[in-house]
Amino acid sequence: MLKSMTIHAFPAPSIKLIFKTFFTKNNVGLFNSEKAHEYFFSRGTCALAAAIEYVMVKRRIETIKVWLPGYFCAEALVAFEGKNVRCYFYPINKNLEPDWFVIEHKAKSESPDIFILVHYFGFINSIVRAHQFSKRNNCELIEDACHVVKLEQHPHLTIYSPRKIYSIPEGGILISKETIASSITTSGEPTSSRAVWSWLIKRLIQKLLVNLRTDWHSLAGFAVHWRAEQPITDLSCNRLANNYTKKIVTEQVNETERIIDQRRKNYASLAQVVEGKESVKPFFSHLPDNVCPYVFPLLVHSNKSVLERKLHLLGIPASSWPALPLAVNVNQIEHSNAIWLKQHILLLPLHQDLKSHQIEYMSKCIEKYVL
Ligand SMILES: Cc1ncc(COP(=O)(O)O)c(C=O)c1O
Repeated sequence: MLKSMTIHAFPAPSIKLIFKTFFTKNNVGLFNSEKAHEYFFSRGTCALAAAIEYVMVKRRIETIKVWLPGYFCAEALVAFEGKNVRCYFYPINKNLEPDWFVIEHKAKSESPDIFILVHYFGFINSIVRAHQFSKRNNCELIEDACHVVKLEQHPHLTIYSPRKIYSIPEGGILISKETIASSITTSGEPTSSRAVWSWLIKRLIQKLLVNLRTDWHSLAGFAVHWRAEQPITDLSCNRLANNYTKKIVTEQVNETERIIDQRRKNYASLAQVVEGKESVKPFFSHLPDNVCPYVFPLLVHSNKSVLERKLHLLGIPASSWPALPLAVNVNQIEHSNAIWLKQHILLLPLHQDLKSHQIEYMSKCIEKYVL
């Protein structure tokens, strides 16, 4: 019999790290690049809204046409939806690449102002083709790197969501070659210190429970929250991050190499467990050298939600892609692949805070109870 335990879905900061933040200098950039400007928001979504606003100002247009993949998170649209932004969701193939055939065909009659390419789960998508497309159609390319630790270069507008990789309460970054501060409006107060500290306290309690190897996921009150990150801010457009968030992330940036290494190792361990199984397989056939995975995407041939529920009962915070945009759900023919992917991809945690006994527990659960 396996002793049940709760696996935490996201990394938690250590007391040592929090102590260090009292001596951290403010405003140290995450990427510290001399060639690009970096703007720190509370969410990746807010960074995206700012990027769109910047292109509107630069092009002097009142309504903007934005093309983005159908396999997108509906919630990530909230910060800019309806603000003179006309979204077209382009279809994607089953390997997550844009369906270039449909895209090129549509571009013959109407071209976008912005084309968004998503690097899903940390794996680099077809950037060369996206670059060529945007150049040919005179549109701005935005690289959505919300699942990526760091791209090698930033030739285009790029957005990040560092809270998905580092242990921080919030964070969305916009990288631009040009300075764009005068083109974007920030609304609302930056995230409050109270919200940041309450997140920190919750994470420290969580870390304690994990270290005690308890199975706290079945306790009342934790039932949902143990496996889903609850954003600490609402989606008021262009909300800036709290200064203290920047300090916490600055301290963790020094550990990026270790984080990448650990995530890759955890990915390899999980890939080994599912290798050769009939009912599931890793979504990506291999892990390229330049990739730091955000999660482990597992392709489940049938009954994905049953498997997901089983794993939850075992204390493993498996998750699915969030709700797709309404326009995608109502157009099931054009977006059949995005809908199929939502139904068949299960996401397993592999963050840097997972200890070897937790990876072993996950592997055993998958081997013994699931496959
Ligand atoms: C591809 C992609 N882009 C953007 C976002 C928005 O990032 P955030 O949650 O930091 O607002 C998400 C969120 O999950 C996402 O998956």
